Amino acid sequence: MASVPPRRLSIGNFRPRTFDEIIGQTTAIARLRKFLDGARNGLVVPPHMIFHGPPGVGKTSAARVFAREALGDRLERDFSEMNPWDDRSPNAIYRLFELSRTPPAGGAPFRIVHIDEAEALTPESQVSLRPALEREESYSVYILSVNELDRLAKPVQSRCVVLEFRPLEPQDMRLALSLALQRTPFQLDDTVLESIVERSQGVPREAIKHLLEEGGARHSVPQPRSSESSG
Ligand SMILES: Nc1ncnc2c1ncn2[C@@H]1O[C@H](COP(=O)(O)OP(=O)(O)OP(=O)(O)O)[C@@H](O)[C@H]1O
Ligand SMILES: [Mg+2]
Repeated sequence: MASVPPRRLSIGNFRPRTFDEIIGQTTAIARLRKFLDGARNGLVVPPHMIFHGPPGVGKTSAARVFAREALGDRLERDFSEMNPWDDRSPNAIYRLFELSRTPPAGGAPFRIVHIDEAEALTPESQVSLRPALEREESYSVYILSVNELDRLAKPVQSRCVVLEFRPLEPQDMRLALSLALQRTPFQLDDTVLESIVERSQGVPREAIKHLLEEGGARHSVPQPRSSESSG
């Protein structure tokens, strides 16, 4: 029987799965929870949103948790992401608009589209996005993640609510790090953890990279004893 390689840790293992696992970002998360309550109460659709902040502080994580909470078992069908490496030509954006005009199946009120690094959309693609953001035309809630707000056209900005995502304070970073540590077999002493907090400058993605570097260099997978391996 082929042997199964041991499961290895990588940054993807630390993706928050619930709002509670997104550390810091309290203002943004509180507003997302309110929009969800509004959607659940049935009278309002969440607004289009811009998640603005530096890389690695939880924007994509929050977009995915929000979609999971809002759509539940419709997630697979009604949530889509457009990444920088996807086709983001004006034509591709126009196809999104066409989709937005079609009601979701089963009478669902809306679908959710997350566009990552939206500021990298060309000006032409940003123009093509505008009709999709017009509520009368659209059954989609758009989330645009950006590092630089100024690069988004003003008409796009003004059709969205802006949620700010910020670098974490040191005490929040300690919490994020201790939660991440619990998902590893590592034991790292406080001086190492404190140096990670310092080096990562409030960016959890950086902290997790350092955690894997420090822990991975100190720990190894227990090897089977030679009598067991020779069978
Ligand atoms: N606020 C946070 N709380 C807990 N973990 C976080 C947080 N922010 C980021 N992380 C960790 O960093 C990883 C990357 O975060 P994420 O992809 O959400 O960043 P981003 O803000 O979308 O970055 P980018 O601007 O580069 O797209 C997450 O999978 C998670 O492990
Ligand atoms: Mg992202």
